[in-house]
Formats: sequence, C-alpha cells, structure tokens
Amino acid sequence: MKYIDLRSDTVTLPTKKMREAMANAEVGDDVYGDDPTVNKLEALAAKMVNKEAAMFVASGTMGNQLAIMTHTRRGDEILTGEHNHIVVHEVGALAVLSQTMVRTISHENDFIYPEDIRKNVRSNDIHEPKTTLLSMENALSNGLVIPLDILRANYLTAKKLNLNVHLDGARLFNAATSLGCLASDLASCTDSVMFCLSKGLCAPIGSILAGDKAFIDKARKNRKLLGGGMRQAGILAAAGIIALQEMTLRLKEDHDNAKYLGKILLETGLVELDLSRIQINMVFFRFKQSDFPHERFRAYLLQNGVKINGSDDEYRFVTHNDIDRDDIVKTVKLIQKFQ
Ligand SMILES: Cc1ncc(COP(=O)(O)O)c(C=O)c1O
Repeated sequence: MKYIDLRSDTVTLPTKKMREAMANAEVGDDVYGDDPTVNKLEALAAKMVNKEAAMFVASGTMGNQLAIMTHTRRGDEILTGEHNHIVVHEVGALAVLSQTMVRTISHENDFIYPEDIRKNVRSNDIHEPKTTLLSMENALSNGLVIPLDILRANYLTAKKLNLNVHLDGARLFNAATSLGCLASDLASCTDSVMFCLSKGLCAPIGSILAGDKAFIDKARKNRKLLGGGMRQAGILAAAGIIALQEMTLRLKEDHDNAKYLGKILLETGLVELDLSRIQINMVFFRFKQSDFPHERFRAYLLQNGVKINGSDDEYRFVTHNDIDRDDIVKTVKLIQKFQ
C-alpha cells in the first residue's frame, strides 16, 4: 500500500533526479578533502547563506552539537528557548559532548526577544557560569517563523554582550520562503547556522553547518573527533546539491498545501485550529470532542493508509514533496467519515 505519510517532512524520499545524481557522483576521500562533489556542495551551501565556509554533516543534530562544541568551553552556559530542539530532542548532548549548561527562555510562541537575552545573560560575578552562546531556532518546530527584525535585534543584543549566536535552521529555507526573504538574510543574524538537506528538501541524509572559516576549520576537527569524518560522501552530497538548487524553490507549494489542509480541516467543524499559525508546512489542531477516541482514530487512519503523529492533546500534520492535494482531500474525507 502507498501510504499518505503526514508524520513529518523527514519521511520524504529522494527524487528520481537525486538518485541519478547519486549514482553518477564523482567521489573521493572527503577526510583528505578529495571529494569534488562534497566540495561543490559545501561551496554552494556557504554561498547560499553568505558565510565564508560550510561543512557537510550527517544530521541536523550533529550540526547543532558541533556548533555548540566549537563555540563553547566546558561549564559555559547557553541561552536558548525552552522547547528548542537542542534542549528537548538532542538527548542531552550539549551536556554530554560539550559539558555545557543551558538557561532556557520561555514564551508562549517560543520566540526569543532582546530583553530575554539581556535579562538572562550571567553577570561577571565570580559565582556564576559564563554565558557564551545564544542559540535560536527558525523555523520553530511549533510551525511558527520568527520575523527577521526580531532575529536581527537578538543578534545585535547578543553581540553587544559578547555572545556567539547559533541558529538551528533545520527548516531555514521554509522560514525564508515564509518570510519572503533569502536564507542569507536569516543567516546574517548569526555566527553559525545549521540547515537540513533532508526533511522538506528531500535529500536522503545530511545537513550543513556554516560559519566563518576559522569556525568551520575547528568544527571540522570536532566532526572527526565524533567519528563524523566521511569518506566517499559525494554520493550523498550529490543529492544535497539538488536539494539546495531545486528543492528550496518548491517549498511554497508545501506551505500552500498546509494552508489548504488547515482550511478544509477547519470546515469539517470537528477541530480547533488557528489558520494564522500555519506559516510553514505544519498544521497543528485539536479535536473539539472531549472524549474523542484518539487511539481508535489513529488506528483507523493507519488501516486506511494514512500515517500520522501527534498526541491526544494536539495533532501535527506535515505536508511535503510526497503529499499532493488529492492526498489532503482523501485524508480529510477519512476524518469526516470516522465514527
Ligand atoms: C528544529 C530541528 N532542529 C534539528 C533537528 C535535527 O535534525 P536530525 O533529525 O537530522 O538530527 C530537527 C529534526 O527534526 C528539527 O526539527
């Protein structure tokens, strides 16, 4: 059975063109810097975010953690949002790998504002840890996008306080598409940025960490320390090049599909859903019925070929390259038929 898979954009399959490019990729030993396809991907990635250098890494988590490891020293404190991926979904790696502390900022929308940075940065008191890094996320995993002026104000505030600034841009190109700006505009508010080539961009594996040359040189050594030096990685980078050159240009289609899905879900009258919060490819909603049979509902959708994620409290449907309007209509009709 071909499933309609709304669990995440991480489920996207590489396109036919990606598979062909992978099969034909020119490769070499990347630990020696000899892989021409990896070199091409890294140069392209650096250019797209207007940074001096970029490095191909195995995953978004690895890119974020390498950024933390490279920016900080043991015992340093990081300022970040309480629900940000680096805190909640990276297995405590910032403590395990970099031995850093974290001070989280809480806001309803998970935004961070300049006053949060000023308020939470530690003083020079002999007793306190040293705050050295601000880590932001955009797009946020709650589906919202932080506007460019807030990111810029945060960056300027952090720099005045001598902090480095990292951006977890797993969905950087979704954020840029939503804001109608360039990925490089968002990256200009950071010292380092991570973005994923998999997820909505459909590459099978891989993310990019970008920053200035000295930072990336140091991060490259840290990547080796973690066992992340890959050899003929051009096979994967070949798909990454197509992800950046072509798949970044089609994300609006996913965003429009998400808005359409939100609209017709709302029209069923069965759910609570805020259309203004559909800013990228994610639709969050709750069922109105207080005793809604969630477990039976999820099993019913699965039996009928629809895979979903979400807790009883809130469902999240994610649109992507392998979801079209017919899939969306079919899913909503199934929801309407559920009893
Ligand atoms: C916001 C955010 N950051 C980082 C990551 C980590 O990416 P990966 O799964 O490639 O480690 C994800 C993954 O979903 C994410 O949503």
